[in-house]
Amino acid sequence: MTRPQSLDDLYSRFDGMHMEGGWHRKFPALWPVPEENFLPYVWHYAEVHPALDAAGDLVSTEFAERRNLTMRNPAEGNRYATVRTLVAAYQMVKPGEIAKSHRHTPNALRLILDGQGTTTTVDGKRVNMRPGDVLLTPNWAWHAHENAGTEDCYWLDFLDVPAVHLLEPMFFERHPDGLEDVVEDVENSPIAFRWEDSLASLGRSTDDAGGLCAAQIEMGSPALETIGLYMQRLAAGSTKAMRTTANSLFAVIEGQGQTVVGDVALPWARGDVIAVPAWRAYRHEAGGDAVLLRVTDKPIFEKLGWLREEIA
Ligand SMILES: [Fe+2]
Repeated sequence: MTRPQSLDDLYSRFDGMHMEGGWHRKFPALWPVPEENFLPYVWHYAEVHPALDAAGDLVSTEFAERRNLTMRNPAEGNRYATVRTLVAAYQMVKPGEIAKSHRHTPNALRLILDGQGTTTTVDGKRVNMRPGDVLLTPNWAWHAHENAGTEDCYWLDFLDVPAVHLLEPMFFERHPDGLEDVVEDVENSPIAFRWEDSLASLGRSTDDAGGLCAAQIEMGSPALETIGLYMQRLAAGSTKAMRTTANSLFAVIEGQGQTVVGDVALPWARGDVIAVPAWRAYRHEAGGDAVLLRVTDKPIFEKLGWLREEIA
């Protein structure tokens, strides 16, 4: 091996060895504060609803088992995620449609927006899903959904698929029998948070999250290994501002207002989804009483010692 005679020779030798001098990086490896990669954004249910209805006419479930619309963050180069670790989607299920039983390592939950008559079966327990309900399908739990009613049903899905993409422990499997063969109907389940129970708990809550809402409850502790869920009631006016290393998605269950992220104002109404990426200062301004579901990857950051939060 000839000895490189110049720095340029040395660096081209490094390239051939698939190595790089730590003093000569093309891209920095460390920086002082989190970068702003993903963008604040809002998706409006009023725009999505007719698009889902059109998909309902044009896309049968023979063609696509799921009729869902993923919310792709407009950050440059992003192909899928809504924020770094989470993805959200709107889904519509027509009467008589069944999503067959399957399981996967990504954790998931859904928030029901409209329509009566759907059920979800998780590890052999079948529960009704009604508007305002939040239902969990944890890592590797068998789950199937069915619309046994007469109305089109609309819901929001939230999953940690982008986190699984980053860390790569992806496994997915269809149930060998299509559906679980032993199913028990239950009204109460640890995977089901009922709207009326959430409202009652919110009414009793004195936790204002340090001024980030009028009241909040945590659903589960956390709801899923990677995802924390907080139902928050807002009163008219502005909350305090928050900056956290965790990523958040907010779903609007009731009310209207806007979320200000940095210098971007994102107006929202019922059924909308707001993306608040990590380390962006944000505050909510409600036009009156409102209820939001905060879906956050905070449990990941807590477990790893990387949670930093500032309230101003
Ligand atoms: Fe699934």
